This record gives sequence, C-alpha cells and structure tokens, in this order.
Amino acid sequence: MRRPVRVAVTGAAGAISYSLLFKIAAGEMMGKDQPVILQLIEIPQAMDALRGVAMELMDCAYPLLHTITLHDNVEDGFKNAHYALLVGARPRGPGMERSDLIEVNGEIFARQGKALNDYANRDVKVLITGNPANTNALIASRNAPDLSPSQFTCLTRLDHNRAKGILANQTGATPRDVNGIIVWGNHSPTQYPDLHHATILGEPAINQVDMNWYKEEFIPKVQQRGSEIIQARGLSSAASAAQAIVDHMHDWVLGTEPGEVASMGILSDGSYGVEKGIFYSFPVRCNYGRYQIVQGIELNDFSKECLKVTEQELLEEKAVVNHLLPEETAASHDN
Ligand code: NAI
Repeated sequence: MRRPVRVAVTGAAGAISYSLLFKIAAGEMMGKDQPVILQLIEIPQAMDALRGVAMELMDCAYPLLHTITLHDNVEDGFKNAHYALLVGARPRGPGMERSDLIEVNGEIFARQGKALNDYANRDVKVLITGNPANTNALIASRNAPDLSPSQFTCLTRLDHNRAKGILANQTGATPRDVNGIIVWGNHSPTQYPDLHHATILGEPAINQVDMNWYKEEFIPKVQQRGSEIIQARGLSSAASAAQAIVDHMHDWVLGTEPGEVASMGILSDGSYGVEKGIFYSFPVRCNYGRYQIVQGIELNDFSKECLKVTEQELLEEKAVVNHLLPEETAASHDN
C-alpha cells in the first residue's frame, strides 16, 4: 500500500464539501490505491457541523481513509498538505456588490496564500474554488512567494463539464463521446465555452449543431448555468462542483486521457495573447503531475473577441484587489 497523502480542504462543512469529501475518501480523486489523510478546515462557528461531517466520513469505513483531522485555522490545517482545496468563501450577502465580495474574499485568500507558503508541503498543488475563483487564485499565489504560481489553479472544470453535458444532451451523444471542449477565461458569465475544436465521436461538433443554437442558446446557457441552478434549486451547484473538483485534481495528478483536453484556470503566460499576470482558463493537457497549455489552436474573429471580453473582466477584478498583491518575486516567475 502507498503512503497516505495529505489533502487539506477549506469550507469543509459547506455544501460542496458534503459531496466532495466522500468522493475523495472513496478514492475517486487520487486513485483507488492511494490512501488519504483529510485535513478539514472551517471557521470556528462551523466546527460543530464539521465534527458531524467527520463522524459520517468515519461511519462510511472507507478503506482508503487513513485519518481525519479538524482545524479552525488554516495555519494548522495546511501543515504539510500535498493538496489544498480552497472551497470555503464568504457568500454574497444582501446589497453586496461584486466588488465588495471580491474585496472580502480577497483578504481570506491572502491569508490562505501566506499559510500555504509557510506550512504546506513544498510541492503542494492548490485548487481554488471559492468565488471569485480566478482572482482569489491570483491573490493566494501572490501571497505565497516561496511557491511557484504554477502550483496554483482555479476551478473552471465545472463550466467545461457543463458545456460537455449540454452539448451531449443536444446532439443525442453521451458525454464520453465528446472531446475537445474548451472554456476560456473567467469562472463568471463572461467565460467563453468554445466548441470550434470539439468533436463528437471524432467528427467536428460545430458541423453537428446549428450556429444560431451555438451562439444564441448554448453559450448563454453555459455562462448562466450557475444562476439557472440557483433559481431552480434555491441553492447553488454543489454536487456538480464537487465532481468538477475531483475531475480537475484527478487529471492534474494522474494525467488527462490520451488526446483529451481539460479546461483549467492557471496563471497566464501570454499564450493566445492573454495578458500575463491573471488567472485565466486555458485548454491544458496533464502528464506526470504537470499541466501544459495546448498550443496552436486557431481562433476565428468571434473567438478572439470572446477571449478579450473575459480577459478584460479579469483585469478589472485584478485592479480591485491590487492592494492585496505583493510585488512578484523570483519564484513567482518560475512558471
Ligand atoms: P457554503 O456556503 O455551503 O459553504 C462554504 C463553507 O465555507 C461554509 O461552511 C463556511 O463556514 C466556510 N468558510 C467560509 N470562510 C472560510 C474560511 N476563511 N476558512 C474556512 N472555511 C470558510 O458554500 P458552497 O456551496 O460549499 O460553495 C463554496 C464556494 O464555492 C462559494 O464561494 C461558491 O461561490 C463557490 N463555487 C465555485 C464554483 C466554481 O466552479 N468555481 C462552483 C460552485 C460554487
């Protein structure tokens, strides 16, 4: 049996974690032969609820679940973590502007970046889910000067999976038959779900759908899917977000399927003309625990325009949190 790996999760008593933790413990994320230690982190007021979740995890008697530890602060919770899943965040309250939310959560993620820098394993892989995920990832990574920004990613896999599921449903295919979906940009309604390079059973997807449907229905549907679910359920996506976190980490650590592309929010290196220094969702392939942006994809004028719109939003978000971004260091450039 392998040595257990340490997976730290913030927001561990929240809705997403109530699906996520059970999937991790069952081996869906790190593989069916990899024992895990779960380091669960919550705010002090939620520690009772967290104890309840821990009891349920124990009661599942998962063969791969080595230990569970509970923490009311990230400094303890991130100690020696190999993987850190930053799910917890303040939800948007009544009358709160998006910029207020960015600011409040920015401070949380600055502290979490520092704690990862000081306490996590040197090779820690970090995934930020708490919103605004891309900008929170930027803040966390810039506050962790001893870690490489390439160790930080943010979740756009839910948008990717939504696009795949909606396309499969429209064309009568199953999601397994669909390849090459790309989600570009921000995890927000400006994201661009791109079907120009997708295939269904090896044939170009774009030839199998009506262009009007693609532009007028598909793109807005994927962009607005989160709100549509909140309206229908009265609660935000939780199980699908948990599945997306599992898929993101699984691919990063164990590799993407041969020929398949994943969408991941990562620090822009300038590929496809996207300004450096923002976390932007790109098409990637993963191998041996590393991701690489898929290069050489041709973009038509429509796609180029869509990439710009979502880039612009991220640059505006960055401007709001500029005071939480310490100067870049040498390690920050080791991307
Ligand atoms: P939730 O409100 O059910 O749970 C969040 C949990 O985080 C709460 O238990 C809260 O006590 C905890 N928390 C808050 N601040 C914390 C801190 N500083 N340290 C540790 N824990 C903290 O929310 P849910 O549904 O689990 O969603 C979590 C986040 O994920 C939200 O920001 C949501 O907007 C975001 N989200 C992102 C998606 C993406 O695709 N990137 C998809 C769905 C949700």
